[in-house]
Amino acid sequence: MKYGYFDNQNREYVITRPDVPAPWTNYLGTEKFCTVISHNAGGYSFYNSPEYNRVTKFRPNASFDRPGHYVYLRDDHSGDYWSISWQPVAKSLDEASYEVRHGLSYSKFQCDYNGIHATKTLFVPKGEDAEVWDVVIKNTSDTPRTISAFSFVEFSFSHIQSDNQNHQMSLYSAGTEYNDGVIEYDLYYNTDEFEGFYYLASTFSPDSYDGQRDNFLGLYRDEANPIAVEQGRCSNTAQTCYNHCGSLHKQFTLQPGEEVRFAYILGIGKGNGARLREKFQDIANVDAAFAQIKAHWDERCNKFQVSSPNQGLDTMINTWTLYQAETCVVWSRFASFIEVGGRTGLGYRDTAQDAISVPHSNPEMTRKRLVDLLRGQVKAGYGLHLFDPDWFDPEKADVAPSKSPTVVPTPSDEDKIHGIKDTCSDDHLWLVPTICNFIKETGEESFIDQVIPYADGGEASVYEHMKAALDFSAEYVGQTGICKGLRADWNDCLNLGGGESAMVSFLHYWALESFIELAEYRGEQDDAEKYRAMAEGVREACETHLWDDEGQWYIRGLTKDGDKIGTAQQTEGRVHLESNTLAVLSGAVSQQRGEKAMDAVDENLFSEYGLHLNAPSFATPNDDIGFVTRVYQGVKENGAIFSHPNPWAWVAEAKLGRGDRAMKFYDALNPYNQNDMIEKRIAEPYSYVQFVMGRDHQDHGRANHPWLTGTSGWAYYAVTNFILGVRTGFDGLTIDPCIPTEWPEFSITRQWRGATYEIKVLNPKGVSKGVASIEVNGDAINGAVPIYAPGSTNHVVVTLG
Ligand code: GLC
Repeated sequence: MKYGYFDNQNREYVITRPDVPAPWTNYLGTEKFCTVISHNAGGYSFYNSPEYNRVTKFRPNASFDRPGHYVYLRDDHSGDYWSISWQPVAKSLDEASYEVRHGLSYSKFQCDYNGIHATKTLFVPKGEDAEVWDVVIKNTSDTPRTISAFSFVEFSFSHIQSDNQNHQMSLYSAGTEYNDGVIEYDLYYNTDEFEGFYYLASTFSPDSYDGQRDNFLGLYRDEANPIAVEQGRCSNTAQTCYNHCGSLHKQFTLQPGEEVRFAYILGIGKGNGARLREKFQDIANVDAAFAQIKAHWDERCNKFQVSSPNQGLDTMINTWTLYQAETCVVWSRFASFIEVGGRTGLGYRDTAQDAISVPHSNPEMTRKRLVDLLRGQVKAGYGLHLFDPDWFDPEKADVAPSKSPTVVPTPSDEDKIHGIKDTCSDDHLWLVPTICNFIKETGEESFIDQVIPYADGGEASVYEHMKAALDFSAEYVGQTGICKGLRADWNDCLNLGGGESAMVSFLHYWALESFIELAEYRGEQDDAEKYRAMAEGVREACETHLWDDEGQWYIRGLTKDGDKIGTAQQTEGRVHLESNTLAVLSGAVSQQRGEKAMDAVDENLFSEYGLHLNAPSFATPNDDIGFVTRVYQGVKENGAIFSHPNPWAWVAEAKLGRGDRAMKFYDALNPYNQNDMIEKRIAEPYSYVQFVMGRDHQDHGRANHPWLTGTSGWAYYAVTNFILGVRTGFDGLTIDPCIPTEWPEFSITRQWRGATYEIKVLNPKGVSKGVASIEVNGDAINGAVPIYAPGSTNHVVVTLG
């Protein structure tokens, strides 16, 4: 069953039936103001942090995605009313038709009902901390019509997310004021904080307004049947105390064929409502602001565009996977309809991995995240599992919480740095390849010498920070020389403590390889040798202790008592995705063992929806293995199709040269390919999810937790760098694809360091891998494509065979 389609021309996903089995969401905003919005216009806005600056309210885990950012329309002749988004009024789909276009940082809602065509486009203009609702109402009937429009948002009860549930002070300290087309909401009476003032404005002069939620909705009613809309007029109340909303109402008379266009503006900061109201009264300014959002994403997407025989891959790589990866980097793993703004959103490993994917499209944010991460690393080399850049910002740390209700207290060092017992064994290692990738993309070698403080005092160059990360993992090894598991490794639920993690040792090897390449490039021969010896030791330990001869695959690790996890002898948790994929991805293991390990992955973990994390799932609690053994079977880390490590398998197969297998794995997880089985998938088909129920669960195939997952970054990185095979280097562009044998050719446009590379890859012999020749601008070359002058366009022809 399908509910919509991909419109590649406009980079949109078009929902043609609004009764989708779950809210399908989108992210509006490219800078500091963000809205998470569903196809029903349910959702919420925040400024900078969803934990501390909530602008509008949301009720997570309710059976409805409410409240939201709604526009109601009322036929003032008949009294009949509806909403431009299907919810919350939810007219019968036999009488009304709806279409929703989720685009890049905008969502457009469209409704046709009883001779009225209406659209509402939501987006956040660049340079403004506000969301614009561009509304058009058109009379498509043949009689004059009198239509009232009402906005509705429910303002956040407290700027702090958790206080929306357990705080009562806002009942006494918050209030609304109405001034000339603007409802201003003051969360903390008499403060001067930017974050404390929200507003809802309209470009028209309202006929009535409501700042009091309960006046607008009416008692024992909800967003589906507000009394104000039913009666055709708001109560004209704005006052202190109770719960607050923003409703501005206007009546329009429209002749047949006539339309009216106006805007609502939801935003933050005193005085901004009046200013933007005036600005957007000139509707050309709305168009210009919208065009900027389009241009923003065109510029980013155009850094890498592919045209291949796989339409699903093209759609996802050219638009949606990059967009999802950027969403994770910019807003962190903080705000969705599942993650509703608790903790800092910045997990160390998550941030380090997200940042590997977008240095080409968003170098500024990548650099910022790298600095955040380096400041969240302690001298001993590990990273703080969760961190907040503000903790380390001397300017912010100086502000006493008492001075402002909106500044969050800076935690003490003890709260921030728990020490080794709370440390994850993998976090810091992801940072090393991500830094190298950033330098390769941007050529910004000076970054390596930048001096950055450690979280627990002292400072060092980025280069020394990287060494500290590698040294930490060399030091914290168990009896066999394999890295200790500590609180967890990549798998949050595998809590091995003093036990040992195979995947971390392989990850260590991968990070070492990246670093050695950098050290050699910089001419740091002593370091290159030292870390080469370290890598050799890691490789040896892995090959000696982690290969399961009977199963012919790599085990997952050892408990603190030395029991192996993931052997052929076991009936639960026999085969694991993380260790086998990373064994190959890291380059630590031989081709022969690598092929066997990945054959075991295919045989034991593959399903039509992607690769399971482990199989069979654990059924017996075992605290030496961890919480994973207490998660239901087939769910999350216990035998679900956990999406994030799936791209590691694509890279592994690409490294082995098995392009058909890599594409089989890619296609299985690709949400695009599930667009016509939404009854099974449930979640959005344009977003990777955190996990899909595994075969040990009755809902096998159901996709859960969209958007905020490391899958997006890794899927993007894996496909662009290893399947399509275009990899930036310190001094050249390597093109080494690994594709399905049936692909006759494909082409890529890649912008790199200011130059454009038009790459055509020909596959006359139907191979997967192996470059027979490369020509650049008509001349044959060997090896990597050199760096050409900024502004140049270069034609590259690669022939496989
Ligand atoms: C979640 C976490 C991520 C972790 C993964 C597996 O996605 O955000 O850090 O690696 O679960 O446990």
